[in-house]
Amino acid sequence: MDRTLVICKPDAVERSLVGEIIGRLERKGLSIVAAELRLLDVDTLSRHYEEHVEKEFYGDLVAFMSRSPCMVLVVAGPENTFAVVRSLMGTTNPLEANPGTIRGDLGLVMTENLVHGSDSVESAEREINIFFPGL
Ligand code: RTP
Ligand code: MG
Repeated sequence: MDRTLVICKPDAVERSLVGEIIGRLERKGLSIVAAELRLLDVDTLSRHYEEHVEKEFYGDLVAFMSRSPCMVLVVAGPENTFAVVRSLMGTTNPLEANPGTIRGDLGLVMTENLVHGSDSVESAEREINIFFPGL
């Protein structure tokens, strides 16, 4: 079994799209092994998005991610589950994401793109340990 971290971002929770997003993951055949609705603080977000801390968009990213609760999930599936989830998510900018993907079907703006998925096996384990230490 392989695991990855998924976050339904504040826009997804605010728009009541959590069920839609989890449904897509489940229909694909992935399993939810942990889930919690959680208001993320700045410190946790700086660990989660450590590769972006120096970027010019980081302030806006943290403001968005901490404005209301996120649904944080650990999802399990076959080898390289992170890649399965990233494929279901679509590309970062929803305007360019393919129809049939979460971002392509449900989003319109880069800054509010509904969902996070770990981008490698190593990121997945690092991120799961931030949100669900010991899982
Ligand atoms: P995520 O980490 O949230 O799953 O998204 P991602 O891998 O598709 O994209 P990433 O490059 O990791 O960027 C993280 C989030 O920062 C926002 N962003 N804004 N203004 C910009 O140029 C810019 N670049 C990235 C996006 O909301 C992206 O999801
Ligand atoms: Mg990323």
